[in-house]
Amino acid sequence: MSRFATGVTVVTFQGDDGPRGATMNSFTSVSADPPLVLVSVAKRARSHDDLALRPFCVNILGAEQEPLARLFAGAQGLLEPRWVPGARVPRLANPLAWIECDPWRSYDGGDHTLVLGQVTDLGHRDGDALTYAWSRFGRAIECSEGIEHLI
Ligand SMILES: Cc1cc2nc3c(=O)[nH]c(=O)nc-3n(C[C@H](O)[C@H](O)[C@H](O)COP(=O)(O)O)c2cc1C
Repeated sequence: MSRFATGVTVVTFQGDDGPRGATMNSFTSVSADPPLVLVSVAKRARSHDDLALRPFCVNILGAEQEPLARLFAGAQGLLEPRWVPGARVPRLANPLAWIECDPWRSYDGGDHTLVLGQVTDLGHRDGDALTYAWSRFGRAIECSEGIEHLI
């Protein structure tokens, strides 16, 4: 699996004592109608029980946001995350993209739970993407041209 290059997200939600988040790269889009996305959450994660039941936001990280990925994966550090004030669902300030969701369905996935969310709002900015491959963080450079001209 480490040969499968992914982006990196922090999935955020309202915890009992304030905003919470967990780093996840199991994120994928699922459906356009209705708009659904998926994350696979370890049953042993502290976030597990809340994430299947509460609105959540998938924060797709930019290349310079590796410290946030480490922080929300449990690394100790002095970094204080910045949150967007007044958001319906807690979300980080200035991710590369954010996708706000209401919980839709959850499915058993062995030692993980597959959590599907219905997209309620989203936004994005320009910039390079944080990546994860070979168990290392990396960078995908923003391209001016995509495959739009091919499809
Ligand atoms: C790059 C990266 C990707 C990760 N992806 C996932 C994931 O998709 N699902 C998951 O449950 N944990 C994932 N983790 C591990 C969680 O971030 C880690 O267990 C975290 O401590 C969970 O926080 P919590 O226990 O507060 O919920 C990932 C960690 C890293 C560094």
